[in-house]
Amino acid sequence: MTKNLERFLELADAAAGYIDDWISAKEQIFVTSHLDSDGLSAAGIIGAALHRRGAYFQLRIIRQLDRAYLSNISTEGPRRYIFSDLGSGQLHHIESALIDAPTVILDHHPPSIKNTSKNIRQVNPHLCGFDGTHEISGAGVAYLVARHLGASNEDLAALAVVGAIGDVQDRGEKHTLLSLNKDIIVEDAVAADVLEAATDIRVFGRETRPIHKALQYTSDPFIPGISNDSEGALSFLSDIGIELKDGDRWRTIASLSKEEKRQLNTALITYMLKRNIPAREAQSIIGRVYTLKRENPGSFLRDAREFSTLLNACGRSDQGGVGVAICMGDRGSLYRKAEAILKEHRRQLAEGLSWLVEDSGSVESRRLLQTFHSRDKITETLVGSIASMALFSRILDWTKPVIAFAFTTDGRVKVSARTTQSVIKSGVHLGEIMRLACEEIGSGSEGGGHSIAAGATIPRGSEERFLEIAERLLAKQLGQTKEVPPPSEGA
Ligand code: C5P
Ligand code: C5P
Ligand code: ZN
Repeated sequence: MTKNLERFLELADAAAGYIDDWISAKEQIFVTSHLDSDGLSAAGIIGAALHRRGAYFQLRIIRQLDRAYLSNISTEGPRRYIFSDLGSGQLHHIESALIDAPTVILDHHPPSIKNTSKNIRQVNPHLCGFDGTHEISGAGVAYLVARHLGASNEDLAALAVVGAIGDVQDRGEKHTLLSLNKDIIVEDAVAADVLEAATDIRVFGRETRPIHKALQYTSDPFIPGISNDSEGALSFLSDIGIELKDGDRWRTIASLSKEEKRQLNTALITYMLKRNIPAREAQSIIGRVYTLKRENPGSFLRDAREFSTLLNACGRSDQGGVGVAICMGDRGSLYRKAEAILKEHRRQLAEGLSWLVEDSGSVESRRLLQTFHSRDKITETLVGSIASMALFSRILDWTKPVIAFAFTTDGRVKVSARTTQSVIKSGVHLGEIMRLACEEIGSGSEGGGHSIAAGATIPRGSEERFLEIAERLLAKQLGQTKEVPPPSEGA
């Protein structure tokens, strides 16, 4: 399908018109969004736009949209529905559960069915030839609608950048956002003076971590002798003579002068090249960074990558409401609560990772994939994050997709699958694998997602069969022709 921007913007405009009518008629609006950082950003955008208009609305953050949830909300009384960062993949369920209920879906996951009934307005990039995995996120779609709901909603574009980063859509050269993310959302945010996009040292924790800690926690690119190595990071910095403290405060990468940044950047790249890291990978330490200009320096909200991590921690700790409140402007007690949630979330991730490293029998390497089963050692909301971290920090084999399992609290098994860009380029699509494997397993299994990150829920005891099916599907995909890689940024 050729890309049709005009049509896509018309869909957003029409959905905004629909919501506008609900607001004018003082209808009850019920918003459901996804718990990850893109979903929370999307909820924050819609929440702020509705709040600014004095609309009557309620908001709920969920892990997954399934039949049980839909049947529940359908009995809670007549109202208008908005789904953000979810809904398209479960369109068939929405169709049958919310018959005739006026509904707007703002999503970027592939739609499960082609045509929708008249009560459902769907805004989704896939309907207009755009790819929802890297051209626009759920928060971006929500923003396109929100900017039609009020004259001064352009400031919300910064949140859409946070959402896109949270869904790892910065796939352009040097980790740049591409396409609609870059041409509409970043543009609007810069024009509204809420965002600055610059090329800089791209390590995690630029605003909040002491410099040696930021380097130590950097895993993409992985820097041998510095990543995961606090003494190595400290001695590297002392060799190049960068002042680590300003009085008794630790300095951050964001606070370094231009000259110091240049010095650090050259030293890091030279260090990696000497250790035989390919030039392209070494240079990837320099990349696009997105700064939310109105947030305080040193706050978790100032750097879009850190903001998205904070949201993700809230969502995955079942505290999505705290994340949404921050998106809607809370900088007081809920922001402080989010900092505490992040700290605890990091502790749990570290605990999960060390279980994976120390329990050497936990990872099974198979012909085309690798797998681990955390049972109840890692919660179902964290297993995907741990699989990603283990892959990116090379604890797992970088060259094979990982399929991870965890027990759910309701007696089933959560599946999280993750892989890398280079594996996707050989034709692998994990979302398809999850979907097809679940169809084959049946018994209420549901799965789907993106090429690079996907998930499912299956019955206990079907794990081995699931792996066999997944491996068979993988073999088939690897024999197929390649996906077209996303275009790189021109400017
Ligand atoms: O719901 P869905 O689109 O929103 O979320 C995608 C998930 O996949 C996010 O939690 C994101 O962190 C994860 N992801 C990942 N590695 C990638 C791309 C996405 O773990 N390379
Ligand atoms: O839950 P997890 O982080 O592993 O999910 C990765 C991606 O797969 C997310 O984009 C999520 O929305 C998607 N997913 C899905 N259907 C499921 C489970 C996850 O589309 N049943
Ligand atoms: Zn998303």
